[in-house]
Amino acid sequence: MPIEVHAVHTLTPNAQADAIAFCGSGSKLEAYKVGWIPLAAYTGAIKQRRLLICTNNDDKVGFCMWRHSYGDLAIYQIWVRPDARLILHGRAIVLALHTIGTQRRARLLRLWCGEDLAANLFWEAIGFENNGWRHGPKRTSTRRHLLWTQRIMPELVARPRESVSPHAESLLLPNPHLTTPPGS
Ligand SMILES: CC(C)(COP(=O)(O)OP(=O)(O)OC[C@H]1O[C@@H](n2cnc3c(N)ncnc32)[C@H](O)[C@@H]1OP(=O)(O)O)[C@@H](O)C(=O)NCCC(=O)NCCS
Repeated sequence: MPIEVHAVHTLTPNAQADAIAFCGSGSKLEAYKVGWIPLAAYTGAIKQRRLLICTNNDDKVGFCMWRHSYGDLAIYQIWVRPDARLILHGRAIVLALHTIGTQRRARLLRLWCGEDLAANLFWEAIGFENNGWRHGPKRTSTRRHLLWTQRIMPELVARPRESVSPHAESLLLPNPHLTTPPGS
């Protein structure tokens, strides 16, 4: 089961268009969880090299949009196809973010997650820490969002597998296809 995470800007124009359609359908299907954004936002993210696609046997199974923000990598959207969940695709995407964060010398991965989402169990399971909460975008909404953070772990990316902690090892997956040009 070869799981691969691709930086979308490295793909062919046709594959980039397919990726945008995939992201758009995912965010439309579960807008309540990931937040709806226009397709143009994905095009912009590709130009800025901040969109990842996860594939399994070349089948698109998930995506992630992120941004380098105040020295951290902020995860804006992460989504795995409902039929492809709980089989390590989410972990593979987070490991790819550690690779990018290491290359860019970022300190933390961080994100806000609606408190009612099962995804909170995912962040906890892969070792993120809950460091606070805030109200959702609508002040009248009772839905809070939880802040999750995880220190960027260069040891996940650079060190031989046997030298990483058991927790860090749980995130390790081969990721030969993630390509981020130097200095980007
Ligand atoms: C959150 C999401 C990206 C996780 O992706 P995934 O591919 O299912 O996650 P993985 O298979 O890599 O799971 C990694 C770990 O998290 C745990 N986990 C993931 N989803 C879980 C859930 N719903 N309940 C409990 N544990 C969960 C897994 O059991 C696994 O832990 P383990 O190895 O100790 O068993 C995916 O569920 C998703 O796209 N959800 C809908 C969109 C969403 O909510 N996005 C996040 C908004 S903040």
